[in-house]
Amino acid sequence: MNPTYPRRQPIAHLPTPLEKMERLSKHLGGPELWIKRDDQTGLAMGGNKARKLEFLVADALAHGFDHLLTTGAPQSNHCRQTAAAAAHFGLGCSLVLRGSPPAQLHGNLLLDRLLGAHLYWADGREGSEVMNDVAAELRSMGRKPYPIPVGGSNVMGATGFVMAIQELTNQLQSGPNVDFIVFASSSGGTQAGLVLGARVYGFRGRILGISVDHPADQLKTLVSALATATATHLGLGTLSVADLVDVNDDYLGEGYAQVGETEREAIQMTAQLEGILLDPVYTGRAMGGLIDLIRWGAFTRGQTVLFWHTGGTAALGAFGEKLI
Ligand SMILES: Cc1ncc(COP(=O)(O)O)c(C=O)c1O
Repeated sequence: MNPTYPRRQPIAHLPTPLEKMERLSKHLGGPELWIKRDDQTGLAMGGNKARKLEFLVADALAHGFDHLLTTGAPQSNHCRQTAAAAAHFGLGCSLVLRGSPPAQLHGNLLLDRLLGAHLYWADGREGSEVMNDVAAELRSMGRKPYPIPVGGSNVMGATGFVMAIQELTNQLQSGPNVDFIVFASSSGGTQAGLVLGARVYGFRGRILGISVDHPADQLKTLVSALATATATHLGLGTLSVADLVDVNDDYLGEGYAQVGETEREAIQMTAQLEGILLDPVYTGRAMGGLIDLIRWGAFTRGQTVLFWHTGGTAALGAFGEKLI
């Protein structure tokens, strides 16, 4: 099964490091823990969106678009990395952010501005709806906006994570035997790419997405559909990977971007035992879920769990004392 990859602009620092978390494993007394450092992909402070943007930007450039247009939360990591990619390739960038402008300019929002993006506030409207308006406005000015959905989660974006599994399986040839991959899942592109990549490259471990903001059934349906569409896009025919899509929604807490004890403990524990920073919204929640699952005995001591760090640390400063 050989995927036909579309054009790619190599902008991420790859392969990202694969590291053992010796002290965290020992502290928790559970499985052996490893970490895949996609917080080190570069592109304005790293994160999973760099892999997606390699294919999204290549597609935009190949079709003569001169502007990247996307949407997300005010502290969206996807928006920040899209702004960085646009700057790098000399494209314009417009971001539609949910809600209204906060009192302070910090975290990703500050970086969006530094990277030269134009910001629009959805102010109660749907981001995608405002995106359509902004696209029309840009076109009327003679620009060619390339619309990217929330989280960069379409077939192009997911393709970045099919390739990521190829990268991982190469690293694992001289690395551990991984039984589980655990990571934060939200708009589904990362998970869709990972499961499809697992099927394509014969990765046999289980892939468990910790949902950040969706009920499990909803996210599973979304991921399965996107993985199937991505398979078709890569010339793999009709391929169902629904059996590989595993989602845990036990850690939704008080809702999206609401930091609770789960996130706080995970962020502090990983920082203080490994010197690795997680983020307040995604990886803090996913690691909190993993720690809880370890405590509940979901894994045996002989197993190996790989935590896929998907980035987001640029948001830390925006959460201040909530993290302490
Ligand atoms: C840091 C971080 N981790 C995980 C995710 C989730 O990735 P996806 O939207 O592909 O499910 C995102 C994106 O929203 C993110 O910014």
